[in-house]
Amino acid sequence: MILQVEDLYVAYGNIEALHGVSLEVNEGEIVTLIGANGAGKSTTLRAISGLNRPRSGAIRFQGADITRAPAHKIVAMGIGHVPEGRRVFPDMSVRENLELGAYIASPARFHQNLAEVFERFPRLKERENQRASTLSGGEQQMLALGRAMMLQPKLLLLDEPSMGLAPRLVQEIFEIVAELNRRGTTILLVEQNAAMALSIAHRAYVLETGRVVLSGPAAELRSHPAVREAYLGGAAHAD
Ligand SMILES: Nc1ncnc2c1ncn2[C@@H]1O[C@H](COP(=O)(O)OP(=O)(O)OP(=O)(O)O)[C@@H](O)[C@H]1O
Ligand SMILES: [Mg+2]
Repeated sequence: MILQVEDLYVAYGNIEALHGVSLEVNEGEIVTLIGANGAGKSTTLRAISGLNRPRSGAIRFQGADITRAPAHKIVAMGIGHVPEGRRVFPDMSVRENLELGAYIASPARFHQNLAEVFERFPRLKERENQRASTLSGGEQQMLALGRAMMLQPKLLLLDEPSMGLAPRLVQEIFEIVAELNRRGTTILLVEQNAAMALSIAHRAYVLETGRVVLSGPAAELRSHPAVREAYLGGAAHAD
């Protein structure tokens, strides 16, 4: 097991967002966390990467307790996080954004990592010196993903990578996520596009108002009546 989240409670002031979330990610898996707006998906990812302090519970990464470790230590241990809303640095070029992602990785690997990102995302290579703010939404999402890849994380946390993208780009982003996984990156994927997420994930957790209400192999959850009803557009939805 690479990641273990146990009985996690997170609150914002008086508002408790997570009421005892437990989940596990095994090495080599894509695990997806699905749920409606406000269910606590982003809060869970932010707690794992040290951006939200849990009130109680435990988070272990490769056996080490990281529950209260600072965010920069967690990144250095090998957890990459692509936050919601593709936060790129708008006034920097594509290349400068990628360089920032690599500040912590070994300098010796920098050029190789950059070459790999450009190979995966030829559009970024073509726009290497273009300001990030002038990229399309989909290109910005690729840049955010590429920046995380520069760190060569063991575990990649992805928060709604498909949000706001046209169907063809959604397909492309999911293919890239699956490909990263095939090449050895373990992935915890937060998505509202449950159909897509369940189609590439090995296992899934369903979060409702701060609690895990269902979990299991992705293939099983895809045919689970409650999941079909709430997240896959009801019985009319076919595979
Ligand atoms: N900074 C904050 N201050 C106060 N409450 C917050 C804050 N961030 C999140 N919350 C609350 O915590 C709950 C969980 O939010 P979270 O962002 O984790 O949901 P989510 O599942 O990622 O939703 P979405 O699908 O809309 O991104 C919500 O009720 C939200 O209003
Ligand atoms: Mg969110």
